[in-house]
Amino acid sequence: MQSVQEFIQVNKNRFINELIELLKLPSISADPAYKSEVLKTADAVKKALELAGCQTVELCQTSGYPIVYGEHIIDANLPTVLVYGHYDVQPADPIELWHSPPFEPIIKETETHPDGAIFARGACDDKGQMYMHIKAFEYLIQSNSLPCNVKFMIEGEEEVGSVSLGDFVKANKEKLKNDVILISDTGMISNSQPSITTGLRGLSYVEVEVTGPNRDLHSGLYGGAVANPINILTQMIASLHDENNHITIPRFYDKVIELSDEERAEMAKAPFSLEDYKNALDIEDVHGEKGYTTNERNSIRPTLDVNGIWGGYIGEGAKTVIASKAYAKISMRLVPNQDWEEITQLFQTHFENIAPKSVQVKVTPHHGGKAYVTPIDNIGYLAASKAYHKTFGVPVIPQRSGGSIPIVALFEEELESKSILMGFGLDSDAIHSPNEHYGIFNYLKGIETIPYFYQYFTELF
Ligand code: BES
Ligand code: MN
Ligand code: MN
Repeated sequence: MQSVQEFIQVNKNRFINELIELLKLPSISADPAYKSEVLKTADAVKKALELAGCQTVELCQTSGYPIVYGEHIIDANLPTVLVYGHYDVQPADPIELWHSPPFEPIIKETETHPDGAIFARGACDDKGQMYMHIKAFEYLIQSNSLPCNVKFMIEGEEEVGSVSLGDFVKANKEKLKNDVILISDTGMISNSQPSITTGLRGLSYVEVEVTGPNRDLHSGLYGGAVANPINILTQMIASLHDENNHITIPRFYDKVIELSDEERAEMAKAPFSLEDYKNALDIEDVHGEKGYTTNERNSIRPTLDVNGIWGGYIGEGAKTVIASKAYAKISMRLVPNQDWEEITQLFQTHFENIAPKSVQVKVTPHHGGKAYVTPIDNIGYLAASKAYHKTFGVPVIPQRSGGSIPIVALFEEELESKSILMGFGLDSDAIHSPNEHYGIFNYLKGIETIPYFYQYFTELF
């Protein structure tokens, strides 16, 4: 039987070229202008699963983008792994900051990726990581060594909150029945230190609108005498953190689970250089909640961040104007036990309360989701841990991430199974940013590692 290493050696150029073709499709779920491209991407993923040898593959229609669902059942008595991923990508803007066009993938070497990395929107998040699963599956089929049943569920709305997928999961519990959910949509510490993501933060995303006078005004004739919505909005936003960078929304922290000193000490063992961290971002200093380390601030602590803010005149030159309205988009990252709907409500009440009478505020909730933690004594975690150890040659470290995949908590509630976050990206891969890329090493290592997960999971089951 051909080993997975041999299989990769022989096929790696084809694997890379296939991913490049997939990355050429601008499947931006947030922007309706790309609808036909998103649909084309769903078709391409369906075709890829069929070609890899999946018994049945279908496009499941939803009120949004279709879910690509595939099944390969070899024996009802064997365990079933459900692979989840997403084929949609983030918008590419600011487009002018890309060194090469976001949907014309190119391979370049970088310091962290001496073997080269594919630069394109979605390269790491999540087309590259999702496609590894299709190629690993192709290997298992071709070498006739698939040890268990597999189901694939690849959605097209992850970057916009997975709303249709939530309904789909609730309506198809029997079809989606599984023993573990396997996801590659996160990162690891470095190419020499693999880690498994054991936690994801939850999210509450809101948009706020502050309205002052009923029309834009001359800033000389009216300036100083009526509320300027932009001034007010920025003051309100600034007041959401105190001098210790604690969030000031009443009851915001009420349900937060504090980690024990032992757990924090365990976390602190993960390799981390604050100097490297600062250098990589060209910052003189880090910033965050008093009493917590950088790694704690970005994983086990909740946060509040403005993601966008606008209003008034932003064109060429100067225009003297007091805008009628100002806006901001705000995300709150949540930790286990915080209820995102409750947090959204707390935010709304507080934001309305702190608004002066001179303006009106409107808070519009977008999407949200719960945080998630994978226990490390779970057989899925153990199988993943053994798989990484096998292919990287070093023991893996559990690490909680600051990112969110809100559907994972819903999987646990509705399907009653744990998700194993076997990610192969790096924080420096610039997901959601200009010049997103995914290391060739990481791509091929993922394809190599996944079949071992199936094998070890089936053995431990
Ligand atoms: N794959 C990411 C989440 C991620 C990346 C988690 C790296 C951990 C490490 C996912 O596609 C994503 O971007 N999620 C969004 C939330 C979603 C509701 C838009 C996020 O975290 O901002
Ligand atoms: Mn993703
Ligand atoms: Mn993403």
